[in-house]
Amino acid sequence: MGNFTFSIALSILLLHSFALSFNSITTDKHALISFKNSITSDPNAILNTNWSQNSSVCNWIGVSCGLKHGRVTALNLSGYGLAGTVAPHLGNLTFLRYLDFSFNSFSGMLPFELSKLRRLKVMNVGVNSFTGEIPTWLGSFPQLEEIYLNNNTFLGTIPTPLFNNSMLQIANLNNNVLSGPIPHGIFNVEEIRIGNNRLSSWLPSDMCNNMSNVKLLELDNNELEGHIPSNIWKCKHLEILSLAFNAFSGNIPRAIGNTSMLLVLSLAYNNFTGIQFMILSSLCL
Ligand SMILES: *[C@@H]1O[C@H](CO)[C@@H](O)[C@H](O)[C@H]1NC(C)=O
Ligand SMILES: *[C@@H]1O[C@H](CO)[C@@H](O)[C@H](O)[C@H]1NC(C)=O
Ligand SMILES: *[C@@H]1O[C@H](CO)[C@@H](O)[C@H](O)[C@H]1NC(C)=O
Ligand SMILES: *[C@@H]1O[C@H](CO)[C@@H](O)[C@H](O)[C@H]1NC(C)=O
Ligand SMILES: *[C@@H]1O[C@H](CO)[C@@H](O)[C@H](O)[C@H]1NC(C)=O
Ligand SMILES: *[C@@H]1O[C@H](CO)[C@@H](O)[C@H](O)[C@H]1NC(C)=O
Ligand SMILES: *[C@@H]1O[C@H](CO)[C@@H](O)[C@H](O)[C@H]1NC(C)=O
Ligand SMILES: *[C@@H]1O[C@H](CO)[C@@H](O)[C@H](O)[C@H]1NC(C)=O
Ligand SMILES: *[C@@H]1O[C@H](CO)[C@@H](O)[C@H](O)[C@H]1NC(C)=O
Repeated sequence: MGNFTFSIALSILLLHSFALSFNSITTDKHALISFKNSITSDPNAILNTNWSQNSSVCNWIGVSCGLKHGRVTALNLSGYGLAGTVAPHLGNLTFLRYLDFSFNSFSGMLPFELSKLRRLKVMNVGVNSFTGEIPTWLGSFPQLEEIYLNNNTFLGTIPTPLFNNSMLQIANLNNNVLSGPIPHGIFNVEEIRIGNNRLSSWLPSDMCNNMSNVKLLELDNNELEGHIPSNIWKCKHLEILSLAFNAFSGNIPRAIGNTSMLLVLSLAYNNFTGIQFMILSSLCL
């Protein structure tokens, strides 16, 4: 009697988990087909010929699946010349870790549903025609290590929560239309590029105070002003600092010669005053 009950319970459990995994794989396929249906241009007919409904999504070009669970873990469609908007259904690919749409012509906004991709480690939507404000939810991926939003038309201010993530190592926001202040927290990211935007205001005076990890800081071609903080040398890991083509003023702090790792320093086209040779000659540029 006990055994009988147990084996029924077990069968129900097995049936249940079968149904669950079957549903999940179906969900991935649905998501990718909805995504494909919102593509308006596929010049090399990559998706048209290859993403056949009859074959497993894991055999589709640009799709990779996990070995154990068979769920979609990577979607890499970099450089296929695709155009269209991103279907919200893509947010159902909940096992996705790598998303690479770079070098295409995707447009519109990043749909809110992508915030469901909790396992994302790398998100690359660089060199497309995305627009709108940078969504705040991009800061909510607990494992995100690299984010590329460069060469799009993202506008508005940079949401502070984007950098509220200790895992983040690379953020490339170059070549957009971003304005407003530099959010705190960017100095914990190793490589940060926000060049060629419309950022205004100044460098936070405490930017190098807190265990700063920044190695590369690219802020050239903005509308930044004010002085370079004199505690810049506390950014111990700084290797590349690019502040050219802004409206920085004042003296270049002598302490910049104390940034021991510094390899590249680009300050041209600003409004600095004073004689700068002394400081610069102390750097091994
Ligand atoms: C799609 O492309 C992959 C990789 O090139 C290939 O292995 C697969 O057979 C193709 N599937 C179809 C239906 O063409
Ligand atoms: C897909 O399967 C259907 C029916 O199972 C078949 O008619 C069709 O030719 C198949 N398409 C391809 C591309 O294999
Ligand atoms: C996507 O594919 C391109 C070219 O094959 C490669 O350079 C890039 O690193 C891949 N992206 C990711 C996130 O793995
Ligand atoms: C997937 O996402 C879409 C839109 O976000 C939603 O309508 C749909 O019900 C979701 N679930 C499945 C199983 O496709
Ligand atoms: C990104 O934008 C910059 C500035 O507009 C441009 O010079 C560069 O060629 C673009 N990069 C790509 C890969 O299109
Ligand atoms: C930053 O993250 C912490 C925990 O990781 C959270 O408590 C806090 O609310 C977040 N702040 C913002 C502005 O999102
Ligand atoms: C440094 O830490 C203090 C307190 O922990 C905080 O108030 C401040 O915003 C931090 N500064 C930066 C640049 O992160
Ligand atoms: C540089 O300073 C001069 C004189 O103070 C001022 O007229 C000019 O507008 C400044 N340029 C920039 C780019 O801020
Ligand atoms: C450079 O660093 C040394 C110690 O590492 C310190 O004594 C000196 O005051 C610093 N110079 C500047 C200009 O900050």
